[in-house]
Amino acid sequence: EAPSLPPALTAGSGWSAEHIAQYIVPCMKHYGICVKDHFLGARLGERVLDEVESLNRSGRFRGGQLVSQRGVPSRSIRGDQIAWVEGREPGCEAIGALMAYIDEAVMHSAASAQLGDYVINGRTKAMVACYPGNGTGYVRHVDNPHGDGRCITCIYYLNKDWNVKVHGGILQIYPEGRNVMANIEPLFDRLLIFWSDRRNPHEVKPAFATRYAITVWYFDAKERTEAKEKYRLATGEKGVKVPVTQSKS
Ligand code: OGA
Ligand code: OGA
Ligand code: MN
Repeated sequence: EAPSLPPALTAGSGWSAEHIAQYIVPCMKHYGICVKDHFLGARLGERVLDEVESLNRSGRFRGGQLVSQRGVPSRSIRGDQIAWVEGREPGCEAIGALMAYIDEAVMHSAASAQLGDYVINGRTKAMVACYPGNGTGYVRHVDNPHGDGRCITCIYYLNKDWNVKVHGGILQIYPEGRNVMANIEPLFDRLLIFWSDRRNPHEVKPAFATRYAITVWYFDAKERTEAKEKYRLATGEKGVKVPVTQSKS
């Protein structure tokens, strides 16, 4: 009998870091995947969506990048358009608030070494991603297959009235060593958290309507320091930024 996958928490009873950490910590321990619905509430969620739609209208999105393309056109690997957001830009106030809430949830959960043995000391900017609905997705991959420092992936979805039968766009996660598959629908105001390493290969199925998501990755201090050192030795560069864009595994 395969172990069951985590049900989404749909408490929606107001937000507190304590409340959400009490949910996230055991969920990550048992499943390595955690889904929290009604993460921001409809009002703030809608403001985030408005900002993302404005970014799209103003032409801020670019084709998703891959570290090693190996001559393969990247659109055949990932069909999304992305924009990196720091959270303090004009017109990105709600996205900034979202990032602060995710920070609070993750840091509260990680306090007293409760999230794996990770010491989280930073994160990436937010990657705002748009699949335009032309039937592209993102092939099966691991976010961090080679120890670049990222330990936790957090994805916030923004899609109202999403019907997977019509619009596709499911995120399928295949937890390593378990004969199960998690089907995550990219629903409005849903936060998804999972380990970024080889424990969670995943793929975005073809999407047939505009599909928005915002992703941030959290760094483990030790793995990140080691990744920077390896990069420095390999390239002879100092003070470098280790690329954190997705590589196809
Ligand atoms: C997979 C996968 C990546 C890797 O199992 O589908 O993408 O580098 N693995 O092991
Ligand atoms: C990614 C990714 C999943 C999603 O950008 O690495 O896997 O559901 N996205 O958008
Ligand atoms: Mn991914």
